[in-house]
Amino acid sequence: MSATDIARKAFMAPVWLVQVFTQYKSFRENPIIGSRTLNRMGLHVSRVVLAKAVGGFRRLFLIPFVPAAYRREYHHNGFIKIEDFLPEQAFRDLRKEVLELDGEMREMTQGNTLTQMALLDTERCKSLPHCKAFVDNRMMQRLVGYVTSARARPLNFIHCVKNGYVESRAADPQKTLHSDTFQPTAKYWLFLDDVETGKGPFVYAPGSHRLSRKRLAWEYDMSRKAAAELGGHSALGSFRVDEEDLAELGLEARELPVTANTLIIADTHGFHRRGDVDQPCSRLAIYGYSRVLPFNPFPGTGSRLFLKIQEYGLKQIWRKADRQAEATGNPSLYKRVPASRLKMEPDGKA
Ligand SMILES: [Fe+2]
Repeated sequence: MSATDIARKAFMAPVWLVQVFTQYKSFRENPIIGSRTLNRMGLHVSRVVLAKAVGGFRRLFLIPFVPAAYRREYHHNGFIKIEDFLPEQAFRDLRKEVLELDGEMREMTQGNTLTQMALLDTERCKSLPHCKAFVDNRMMQRLVGYVTSARARPLNFIHCVKNGYVESRAADPQKTLHSDTFQPTAKYWLFLDDVETGKGPFVYAPGSHRLSRKRLAWEYDMSRKAAAELGGHSALGSFRVDEEDLAELGLEARELPVTANTLIIADTHGFHRRGDVDQPCSRLAIYGYSRVLPFNPFPGTGSRLFLKIQEYGLKQIWRKADRQAEATGNPSLYKRVPASRLKMEPDGKA
């Protein structure tokens, strides 16, 4: 090991240690979280159990704000599905506003899938009143908060998944069944179009958000393999699960086809993936996610400050990717594109 490596490790060690007590999940980037020895001694499973317990405690404070039927649905399945979420006229206005979006957005390629996203932050929402009304919707916020187990506002986007729009033989990693992270965490989609079987509906394994003994044993086995053996997204802390392991766990993945104006909020600690497609197709939604400090027992206040910090952080990541792209001449991971590409056809024409 070179002197530079030793100096870097000495400098980073306190940072890596602090990250153990946060949402940080990468086995590859953090040698403490990814340590084979520490995970044999139970580091990863301890994080999983503690995050679940503390999340359950925080959720007790949120009970009065969420109707019992939705709470039951979440605890049983790991997701909440509500058809006709918005009043008909509000939904029509929202969809129209999204389809007429102007300015810029971002595009990311994974395998042959193109993901388009426009951050619905305070600035952008000033000119998008129907989007603003939705992201400020109290019931949506409360349901997302219940699933993520804190009073935290989600980060919100206009989000379009264009399946089969990119010439690539590489697989889309989001189409493999996986858990996003070790802690309860919420993602939501308000679907703006029908999403039928064969058009990439959301797929979830009901009950996979629960910590059974079998699930804990699986988490322990995965963590023992550590970064080197896991590889890919699993090494980054989003464990992939194969069909055999899923059956061993007593779980079964299910497609959730929806009609337009359906809201799905899922705990993506549970196993999920993007659904399969018969042919190139597009899935448009308002999408958001919320992930909070896993070991903090306080449920939070739902203030805008934390959301603003997250929005700022995301914009910094995008700008950094822009600078790197300019410096290297390689395309940015989050390419800036005109928002008119939301209406793009599979052959690349807007
Ligand atoms: Fe995911």
